[in-house]
Amino acid sequence: MNFASDNIVGASGPVLQAIVEANAGAMAAYGNDEISVRVRARFAELFEREVFVFFAATGTAANALALSSAVPPYGLCVCHREAHIIDDECGAPEFFMHGAKLAGLPGVGAKLRAEDVDAYLKGLPKAVKQMPPKALSISQVSEGGLVYGLDELAALGRVCRAHGLSFHMDGARFANALVALGCTPAEMTWKQGVDILSFGATKNGGLMAEAIVVFKPELAEALDYRAKRAGQIISKSRLIAAQFEGYFAADHWLDNARHANRMAALLSEGLARLPGVRLAWPTEANEVFPIIPQALDRALKAAGLHYHSWTELSLPETETIGKDEVLIRLVASWATGEDEVRRFLEIASSEVSRQAAE
Ligand SMILES: Cc1ncc(COP(=O)(O)O)c(C=O)c1O
Repeated sequence: MNFASDNIVGASGPVLQAIVEANAGAMAAYGNDEISVRVRARFAELFEREVFVFFAATGTAANALALSSAVPPYGLCVCHREAHIIDDECGAPEFFMHGAKLAGLPGVGAKLRAEDVDAYLKGLPKAVKQMPPKALSISQVSEGGLVYGLDELAALGRVCRAHGLSFHMDGARFANALVALGCTPAEMTWKQGVDILSFGATKNGGLMAEAIVVFKPELAEALDYRAKRAGQIISKSRLIAAQFEGYFAADHWLDNARHANRMAALLSEGLARLPGVRLAWPTEANEVFPIIPQALDRALKAAGLHYHSWTELSLPETETIGKDEVLIRLVASWATGEDEVRRFLEIASSEVSRQAAE
């Protein structure tokens, strides 16, 4: 059983079916085909306004390109210190920003608070030797599995406006956050001040389907050229676009995300009931962050269960990991079976009982 991430499973049936249907016949290349045109219009409908949409093959490409359009080479992009863009993209954002830097701030559960961002920005010296801040990037869902509420997004949006920053959202788990909040895509983005979004579908049923969605028109001006230089103007664009058609049809994407979140909730509730196990912070979407005894960790791994140990950088001040404990991350996906969750919990529970009896 594998709870290492939500990209360890393949693509969902409706997404694959849409690719098969889009496969027949000849169509214009490089995004000028009817399916790409239709999907760009679908994004506008979903976000209830005009948007500029650029397809990308990976979330890293979407993030790096989005940020390159928002931050000049001499600029600073503020993010959480555990953000995917700073920790897991091999410097791609800095590379595509041509010298701009990422500034990582702390925050519980890998979430930024508006007041901390504001204080940081106010504290930056305004001198020619200081890189000026030009963008804020947050991940929705955060790297700690937490979901920014609409009021928190609005507060961050206000800080961006006050300091003249563009507001980027890394939405690798956009759908998981959306269903957790029960709001609309518009409410979770531009209505709170988000200017540019990396919209991820790959983790939630796509094969390789990411899109940069731009709400602030000036950020879209050169994005097609930037995308081409990055090798992200995909010649068979229709096969990327088709994935979004399958993804959006009949609310498949929302069903997938609801399922993943439900599986994570089940896992979370079951683990929190086990003696010696506690959650580092609440489970709000499809990721669970429990602190477990090292002996249990060893036994789970020996039983063939896959998941990652996690950094302790974003724990609440009131929490510490004991020397015999470890913080782990468990991720549920659209394809996680309830039987897998129950089996995981059974194994964990019987291990806890066995170790207590020793
Ligand atoms: C928060 C976040 N952003 C972006 C990505 C996209 O990464 P990739 O380039 O692997 O598609 C991921 C994937 O792990 C992620 O967790």
